[in-house]
Amino acid sequence: MPERKISFQKRLISRAFFVSLQRYFVETMKRREFIRNAAIVAATSGMSSPLLAMEPEEGASAQSPSEEKKGGSQPLIDSEPVLQNYAATSMGIAFSVTDWANGYVIYGEKPDLSDGRKVLCGGYRVSGMDNEVIHVRLTGLKPSTLYYYKIGADRIAYKDGYHISITGIEEKPQIYSFRTAGERVKSHFCVINDTHASWKAVNPTINKVMELQPSCVIWNGDACNTEETIAAQKRIFFKPEIDRKDFAATIPYLFCPGNHDNRGLANLHLERVWMYRQQEERMPRDWDLGRNFAVRMGDIALIGLDTGEDKLDSNPKFCGLFVSEPYRVAQREWLRDALRRPEIAGAPYLVALCHIPLYDPDPKTNPGDIFPDDKDKKYTTDYAMWQRTCATLWGPLLEKAGCQLLLTAHQHCFRIDAPNDDHKWMQIVGGGPNMTGKTEGHFPTVIEGEVREGKLIVTVHNIYSGEVCGTVTFPGRR
Ligand SMILES: [Fe+2]
Ligand SMILES: [Fe+2]
Repeated sequence: MPERKISFQKRLISRAFFVSLQRYFVETMKRREFIRNAAIVAATSGMSSPLLAMEPEEGASAQSPSEEKKGGSQPLIDSEPVLQNYAATSMGIAFSVTDWANGYVIYGEKPDLSDGRKVLCGGYRVSGMDNEVIHVRLTGLKPSTLYYYKIGADRIAYKDGYHISITGIEEKPQIYSFRTAGERVKSHFCVINDTHASWKAVNPTINKVMELQPSCVIWNGDACNTEETIAAQKRIFFKPEIDRKDFAATIPYLFCPGNHDNRGLANLHLERVWMYRQQEERMPRDWDLGRNFAVRMGDIALIGLDTGEDKLDSNPKFCGLFVSEPYRVAQREWLRDALRRPEIAGAPYLVALCHIPLYDPDPKTNPGDIFPDDKDKKYTTDYAMWQRTCATLWGPLLEKAGCQLLLTAHQHCFRIDAPNDDHKWMQIVGGGPNMTGKTEGHFPTVIEGEVREGKLIVTVHNIYSGEVCGTVTFPGRR
């Protein structure tokens, strides 16, 4: 069987399984009236994590007290499109729906879409009909190319397998555009992180990104808190309570998950709202690595890694639900090969991203390898503040490849770590959702990187004060 067919089949089977499993869990939870948010979890479990304890105040849970009402009285499409998984030859386009819908995208290179092609959601065999989120993946695109598109969906009345009808076609009138990744696009990115659905922080953060208009944005984890329902996830990724609902309609995003993006029943399968990368974009060995990316954007190669949970797999708090250790090892093999790809190896600048830092100068910060339960009195937290295991697995490869900059998050406190004997790359830790201005370094950041006059200039914007809080310049690595 051709590789492409196998990959689609696997994707469809696993998606169907995960969807039904998740619906079972969500329905079970609803029956038990067991909807909880991060604040309640922290308050009732005596959670000792200072970071977790802080988050309910800083980041209002996206949990909705009740599922939104579905039905024909609402517009079928109730969000702007979200460009997911920026790449050179493909683009993911997702949007929220209020009822059963068979969604599609019409795209072309002409602004009026007179050359438009229609692509249905889903893959081979069946479409991706859904009543929550529609995912359309455009493939076979040209690198560094401007495309126009619009979104639409057939409203499906579904009674059973033989009684299905289309009760309306709803198409958004707007025509949007995006440019695929590639060597000929503007070398300009922005990074946001630890937004935690804290709208007071997310709103000005996104406003800054919209002002800067980068070629792509990397969302470096902890977009979520602890999300138990798809409705809660949709409020984060499709219907945020911010001014710019179109935040990702024309600027494509890349997503590096944070530890909080794994937590909660719905987040166990975040791919229901933020699709995995196409399996045919990587070899069969790496099919399960749906979050890693290696993307060439102008003169910059962007590498995305997933540090996983901030607690050990053996920590009894999470009852064996997480399997981060082999995941990190598998990513080392993916990274080794990704760094050899010509468009990555040949890029003048190599920038890597992951949520949990790979270095911390403070010996009291927990390195994430304190077996079995992350506890040791010599550390200030009982969870990883940085990731020594990932640093050991990935660091030498990044170093050998000449990585100049590592962008991380997780600690909610902006910091720049200069290269040292431990590593040659510079590490910048982005800030968090705190908008009080009371603690040094604790403010939201937008980390902007742009190549100008033969140099990569990284500017860190303090979103609380509106000032620039750091600037670093890198010469090309070759
Ligand atoms: Fe966070
Ligand atoms: Fe985190």
